[in-house]
Amino acid sequence: MSQVNHKNFEWNPKLVDRYNLAGPRYTSYPTAPQFHDAFQSDEFTQALINSNASAAPLSLYFHIPFCAKICFYCGCNKIATRDTGRCEPYLEHLIKEMDLVAKHLDTSRPVNQLHWGGGTPTFLSHEQMRELMRETRKRFNLRDDDLGDYSIEIDPREIEPDTLALLREIGFNRVSFGLQDLNPKVQEAVNRVQPRDMTEGAIIQARELGFRSLNLDLIYGLPHQTPETFAATLEEVIEINPDRLSVFNYAHLPERFKPQRRINADDLPSPDDKLKILEQTITRLVDAGYVFIGMDHFAKPEDSLAIAQQEGRLHRNFQGYTTHSECDLIAMGTSSISQVGPTYAQNDYDTESYEAKIGQGRFATIKGMTLSQDDLIRRAAINQLICHFSLDGDFFAKQHKINFANYFAKELNLLKQHQADGLLNIEGNQLEVTPAGRLLIRSICMVFDAYLDQESIGKAFSRII
Ligand SMILES: C[S@@+](CC[C@H](N)C(=O)[O-])C[C@H]1O[C@@H](n2cnc3c(N)ncnc32)[C@H](O)[C@@H]1O
Ligand code: SF4
Repeated sequence: MSQVNHKNFEWNPKLVDRYNLAGPRYTSYPTAPQFHDAFQSDEFTQALINSNASAAPLSLYFHIPFCAKICFYCGCNKIATRDTGRCEPYLEHLIKEMDLVAKHLDTSRPVNQLHWGGGTPTFLSHEQMRELMRETRKRFNLRDDDLGDYSIEIDPREIEPDTLALLREIGFNRVSFGLQDLNPKVQEAVNRVQPRDMTEGAIIQARELGFRSLNLDLIYGLPHQTPETFAATLEEVIEINPDRLSVFNYAHLPERFKPQRRINADDLPSPDDKLKILEQTITRLVDAGYVFIGMDHFAKPEDSLAIAQQEGRLHRNFQGYTTHSECDLIAMGTSSISQVGPTYAQNDYDTESYEAKIGQGRFATIKGMTLSQDDLIRRAAINQLICHFSLDGDFFAKQHKINFANYFAKELNLLKQHQADGLLNIEGNQLEVTPAGRLLIRSICMVFDAYLDQESIGKAFSRII
């Protein structure tokens, strides 16, 4: 593999080989394995009440866990059904959950961000989608100026000709489409046949309707993919011209995700081929004018994500990168995770027990945690590094009222190895990740993680690349 140097990114095969260990993705710190079941509905209620003092704006997340047809690779929390009637009781419980939240939260706080994820949110009927948004608007202070980020995940196979117009009308202004791969053989093997026209048509329509930050999801590592087939997919994707791209690494864990048992492990690309696909993907997308934001994400330079990174305003949460760090994130529906003040709280995965708990008038929290002062400091350091690839220790010290060199003496010592290997430069209290270190940013963040038990990493987390 060649040594490719591309603007802010460099592919260094020796470093990739050495640092491609298992590690967390840091959509939260501490990561989900630290959540515990002593944090339940009462603790979440208290977190909501406490958060009102900050008057911070809100980010609302709704999980819609239904899919008409299951893609074999899928690792999301979803239910396969063709019966749209199944959504009715679920919607009723989402509305009850909003009532519960509204009982404790100052709902005059503006909703700067709103997201419907899944599953497949557009599995809901048009009337159900209208109802969910209407009921949300009744209880929360949704913005009417189109300046919030109101986004939805869409499976282009699951929309009617007028679905996007309806979504725009009820207040959405951002959209992310699932695509994964355009090669027919790959699509067949994962049970997701989705011709190019379908995706391209949806993108064109969304743009005409005034949706911004149009995103496409791709996955590398799927059955029958080769560097050549994925390069061809990528050329077509560049022609389709989304504003953002997420390129996820497929982790084959059939013991954990049942649908993956329908994928023949012999059809998967080799680890070497996967690395080659990743290398050519980043190189090609950067060449085509996309900014490598880091951790699977790309955006055009004029997109708000790239601008926020440029201006040092990017953050990371359960929805990936976000420009809304100021918000308390209230997540509703099965398996969803809230981030309110210094707490995390996760809902029950199971629809029946979620509905039973909400029906009894309490939150369906199954686990969570309250962060300590040390957790908050480390979360800020990891967030800064993973979003901006640099850390100004002097500025950080003032912000957090610490002596940076003393507080992180152990970490700075450990990072000497990363520095010697060329992943980052340290001068005084200034940390600067190199273009070669950007792809391996998780390995640098892991040094700041106080909970990492090196032995358990391989079991709990996927490989970095
Ligand atoms: C909830 S789905 C997106 C919305 C809609 N259900 C769809 O598929 O179009 C979220 C995304 O997660 C990604 N994904 C799902 N399972 C994955 C896996 N096992 N490995 C990597 N990415 C995965 C896919 O790219 C998918 O588009
Ligand atoms: S990728 Fe999307 S459509 Fe496919 S099973 Fe997963 S959630 Fe459902």
